[in-house]
Amino acid sequence: MSDFIRWQNNWALKIPHLDQQHLVLVERINQIAELVTGRSPPTAAQSDVGRQPPGQRHEGRCADVPEHSRLICDHVEELIEETRAHFQDEEALMLRLDYPSYHEHKREHGILLAELVDLARQVRQGTEQMGLQTLTALKHWLIVHIVTSDQAYAEHYHSRGLAPDSVVPGAEGRERSSSPNWTGEEGNASARVSGGH
Ligand SMILES: [Fe+2]
Ligand SMILES: [Fe+2]
Repeated sequence: MSDFIRWQNNWALKIPHLDQQHLVLVERINQIAELVTGRSPPTAAQSDVGRQPPGQRHEGRCADVPEHSRLICDHVEELIEETRAHFQDEEALMLRLDYPSYHEHKREHGILLAELVDLARQVRQGTEQMGLQTLTALKHWLIVHIVTSDQAYAEHYHSRGLAPDSVVPGAEGRERSSSPNWTGEEGNASARVSGGH
């Protein structure tokens, strides 16, 4: 696995469900970096990272893209879906917490999602040669967002005295990582995201 982004322990929000989603996004970007730099295509196991294997839902979208770029296209489409789901979960949590910077934070999400959707369109149309420059910009955006905006709501979350394994009240129908626990009791779960590689 590429170490284009090396996960750092101090990026963890100590909200396991969301930390796990961040790790999935990091792994997805690392997979794309691996393809962009011309290293061997991902194994089946690597392709299974995240919610859905590439090539199923988005097969039609990327079908006309040349073979090497098609893999990148598939992974970018998966990144969009994983990012969209993650943002929905974060926004639902912030609403539940009456987080004061909810709208500002949601606006940041909207900008990134729009950029990702536009990037995917360009990859499909062959007008964007996904390069390290694009990926580096994406990497920096993600890391800065996690260590600033996401950490800010995480501090708000923990200041409420909620257990670190409290459920994230995500979008309707989304699978939950644990049972609801909004009692403020101390939990002993730790983030599943481990340290750097
Ligand atoms: Fe996030
Ligand atoms: Fe966020």
